[in-house]
Amino acid sequence: MSGALEALYPDLNKHYQHLTQADVSHFLQHGWFVIPNSMNRKYLDRWMEDLWVRMDMDSEDKSTWRTEYQHLPRHREVPAAEFCPEAWQKIVEVCGGGIRTEDRIDASRETWYGDAFIVNLGTDEKAKADYQSPHPSQRDGWHIDDDFFRLFLDSSQVSLTLLHCYTDIPEKGGGTWLAEDGMSYVNQYLYDHREGFDPPFPFMETVCGNIRECKQFAQLTAKKGDIIVTHGRIPHAVSDNLLHFARVIANPHIALKEPFNLDRADGNYSLVEQAILNSIGRTSIPNFTPLRDRMTWYPRNQGTKRNKADAEVARMEAAAVAKGLPKESVNSFYQRKGTKDWEEFERRNGFDKEKPPSGERIEGENKMRGLNGVSWSQKPSAPLAATTSAVVAM
Ligand SMILES: [Fe+2]
Repeated sequence: MSGALEALYPDLNKHYQHLTQADVSHFLQHGWFVIPNSMNRKYLDRWMEDLWVRMDMDSEDKSTWRTEYQHLPRHREVPAAEFCPEAWQKIVEVCGGGIRTEDRIDASRETWYGDAFIVNLGTDEKAKADYQSPHPSQRDGWHIDDDFFRLFLDSSQVSLTLLHCYTDIPEKGGGTWLAEDGMSYVNQYLYDHREGFDPPFPFMETVCGNIRECKQFAQLTAKKGDIIVTHGRIPHAVSDNLLHFARVIANPHIALKEPFNLDRADGNYSLVEQAILNSIGRTSIPNFTPLRDRMTWYPRNQGTKRNKADAEVARMEAAAVAKGLPKESVNSFYQRKGTKDWEEFERRNGFDKEKPPSGERIEGENKMRGLNGVSWSQKPSAPLAATTSAVVAM
């Protein structure tokens, strides 16, 4: 390790019990790292069994692949530590502590992982040899994940954005684009705009406003069973699946109990905090105070997915019965509405929260509401208005 790197990234030589130095180095220099073959195969294989029934498509007949993307609801979930024990230990270390009362990760939210698949199927058009995929800097739809909270520089509800890889993702196979050098702009923008942003807001006109000038793009590739850990502030966007196969991922997040502390007297920052400081060239940010209250809402983008759940259950039940199995073998939370089990599922996923002021994302909607020129410094408590285009996907 060079002296210059050690000076730039003070966490490089810290002792971690589970993270390797390569993990730490890659996370601090690129904002992401891969944990190979870390998903519990029992769940991976079981949950993938009814993918095509859920999508109501024929895996062998591409004429039935009626959309390029499918965003599916979550029917089953298990605790993170059971789904991916090795990866979970590393994730805990990246965030600076686990889910005990005295630790940092919010135990009540997104600490269970499930089968909310995001499927990039590609299209006939994009599979043609002469199809020209745009350079990532020229794509639209760059964003960071936030559909349920008021975003400030120190907001920690999406500390990490994870990719659970349910299939191989080869080159040109629809792996998510990352703009590694877009993270500095995101964090500087949030530093400069302490009024914060409410979802949905126009990412490309605000925190992702420098994408056209970014140079450091990475297109993720993976093997089935890999988990890719990305910093929650790295802009990402869909890529074209030129191979026209079903690329399947899930996209959970890590939420912390408290906002990031970007002014630690002892300098003992978590890696996720350190990466924010590095990205804007600071060793600390004293006295960061948001100008508005912190808010959390129902996750707006879930509306599209949850609207599909009952029909998916009906198809899965019919498929189970056809195989001589009981309907209960489907094992979906949507079969247990009204039970305590259901209530806990709802709470863990934020579905018990109030709808955001801008409403729930609806089926088929492909637009995000935007600021429309309203300056928050002029109108700090005004509601969002107007529309601008931004697709949220992976
Ligand atoms: Fe995303």
